[in-house]
Amino acid sequence: MAIEQTLSILKPDATRRNLTGEINARFEKSGLRIVAQKRIRLTMQDAMNFYKEHEARPFYKSLCEFMSSAPVVVQVLQGEDAIAAHRKVLGATNPANADAGTVRKDFALSIDENSAHGSDSAASAAREISFFFSSLEIVG
Ligand code: CDP
Ligand code: MG
Repeated sequence: MAIEQTLSILKPDATRRNLTGEINARFEKSGLRIVAQKRIRLTMQDAMNFYKEHEARPFYKSLCEFMSSAPVVVQVLQGEDAIAAHRKVLGATNPANADAGTVRKDFALSIDENSAHGSDSAASAAREISFFFSSLEIVG
């Protein structure tokens, strides 16, 4: 296993319900370290650019409306095998299918308002981290 970095987003349903600390505690307890972090409000266009890979999917517009509906916390997590480790803590996209004890099982409201995003591969992590952060903003 290697030390990796991955992009995490605490989504609008999490910021609205004041859950950012509780969710980040799950990440930190799992051994992931927050090495960059900011609270921002995405525009619809920002969300459309970020989720471009999903532009042909039926949920694309509603996903982008949701992601721009309130502030998000974008952050870089670092640790052993961080990309897979982070997604394991998140659980399945649909909270109905998520394992017990995962972030989405415990906090997500629905398949769309599912509290947090995690990069799904090394290539996605590199693209998504550079979408939000310069190297100067990432400090281990
Ligand atoms: O976030 P994850 O990688 O687990 O799932 P995805 O397939 O990459 O989908 C991105 C996001 O779109 C999900 O996290 C959901 O917020 C949303 N989505 C949705 O609204 N309806 C679906 N049927 C599937 C995904
Ligand atoms: Mg995804």
